[in-house]
Amino acid sequence: MKYKSQQVAWWFFTLSVILLVLQIVYGFIMAFAHMGFDVLHDIIPFNAATATHKNLLVVWILSGFMGAAYYIIPEEAEHELISVPLAKLQFWSLAIVGVVAVAGFHMNWWEGRKFLEIPRPLDYLVVLNVLLFLYLILMTLFKGKKQTTTALVLSMGLLFAALLYLPGMIWFDSQTMDSFFRWWVVHLWVEGVWELIMGGILAFLLIKLTGVDREVIEKWLYVIVGLTFISGILGTGHHYYYIGTPRYWLLIGGIFSAMEPLAFLGMALFAINMYRKGEKRHPNKIALYWTLGTAIMSFVGAGLLGVAHTLPQVNLWTHGTFVTAMHGHMAFWGAYGMLVLAIISYSMPLMTGRKMYTKEGANYAFWLSNIGMVGMVTAFAAAGVTQVYLERKVGMDFIEAQQAMAIHFYVLVGAATLFTIGVTMFIVNYFKYGRPTEEALEPA
Ligand code: HEM
Ligand code: HEM
Ligand SMILES: [Fe+2]
Repeated sequence: MKYKSQQVAWWFFTLSVILLVLQIVYGFIMAFAHMGFDVLHDIIPFNAATATHKNLLVVWILSGFMGAAYYIIPEEAEHELISVPLAKLQFWSLAIVGVVAVAGFHMNWWEGRKFLEIPRPLDYLVVLNVLLFLYLILMTLFKGKKQTTTALVLSMGLLFAALLYLPGMIWFDSQTMDSFFRWWVVHLWVEGVWELIMGGILAFLLIKLTGVDREVIEKWLYVIVGLTFISGILGTGHHYYYIGTPRYWLLIGGIFSAMEPLAFLGMALFAINMYRKGEKRHPNKIALYWTLGTAIMSFVGAGLLGVAHTLPQVNLWTHGTFVTAMHGHMAFWGAYGMLVLAIISYSMPLMTGRKMYTKEGANYAFWLSNIGMVGMVTAFAAAGVTQVYLERKVGMDFIEAQQAMAIHFYVLVGAATLFTIGVTMFIVNYFKYGRPTEEALEPA
């Protein structure tokens, strides 16, 4: 660590891992409900559990991105963060809004609209929070000595992500219009601007971990940004198939979204190539595992499992089933979950001066969580195919079909347990690092 203010990242990473644990708890509540044991129904009904599970996911990922930005931007710009107290204020306000939102879901204070359940008054607080965050990051970047491509792509991603939150706040009386713009947030985030954030963080990690020249790594970034925009923007059409929008979306959505895996393939090839080119001398092998793992698992989860149901002929049957959950888990974990764990694994030893990556637990955390996630996704896939067949082909009643799928949730819980053991080992390791220290600062 070169700049003292980079330590602010620790607060965001800590919030991130705590929310991850909570998210998993709600995942188990829902998995048990699907097995027929909805024992908490009176306290935490399914709608509250699912909104909590998904919003905790979004917040832990965003908190991870913010931590990453606070760590990366000063180092790339060669300038201390412009204000640490303001960054801490931004942290606490984020944490408070998060807690209020989750508490609200349990008191039936929510808006419906999957992923955008946070009630409107809290949306305004989120906007204020993000404005403060962007001010701190962008001012640091512009006051800095350098504006590297890596830092610019990361900041651009963060700025666009903030702007794209706004279409979700427009009020529509029409369900179709509301749905149309909801996807500007959900789709254009995960299959658009978040990919820029991902490209930026991956580039930073690869520069540091492989020792390959910045010029080579940053050239790839342009390719990835290009591929993302060419396919991802019109790819939004894969959510407009049968929701009351014009028919041309069937064609546009099908064609452009089918090209989206290219951006993720680009990222995977990029990371693997840089690894092979590199000197393989960096001692933090675990951070490299998570970095390469992100690039590869995102291609599998987002690229392959995404394209599996992206054509209108397939999506007609699979829409909103466990096929979606199969893809959603692997894509979110592979692309953004693992990315946050990668930047944490890289930066914690540098912030604290402790080398916990040499411990066996760090290794097991990686493998168990990933093997567990592959198992979970397989269980969701089996449930999804069963659901499409029974509910949509055979015409079985919704609840009857759900009961027929219960068995797959036993498998899901088994795999999720493995996943949870892996994540727990990661988090135990995280807390063993302790707090950032002054001694960890590199002499100028
Ligand atoms: C061990 C833990 C987990 C379990 C048992 C679990 C289980 C579930 C269940 C049962 C659902 C609801 C499906 C439905 O609508 O009925 C769900 C939804 C979801 N979970 Fe998890 N989950 C876990 C961890 C995670 C993690 C780590 C992530 C992301 C990194 C994640 C991302 C999601 C997403 C994106 C959805 C919405 C899926 C959709 O759109 O259909 N979950 N989860
Ligand atoms: C990292 C990137 C990605 C993430 C995190 C992600 C996550 C998700 C999530 C959570 C959903 C459910 C959304 C909702 O119902 O509100 C979803 C839906 C969908 N995703 Fe992705 N996705 C990614 C990339 C992709 C890609 C590259 C493709 C196609 C090539 C794709 C195809 C789809 C399709 C077709 C649906 C709609 C499913 C339905 O109709 O129920 N996704 N994705
Ligand atoms: Fe999409």
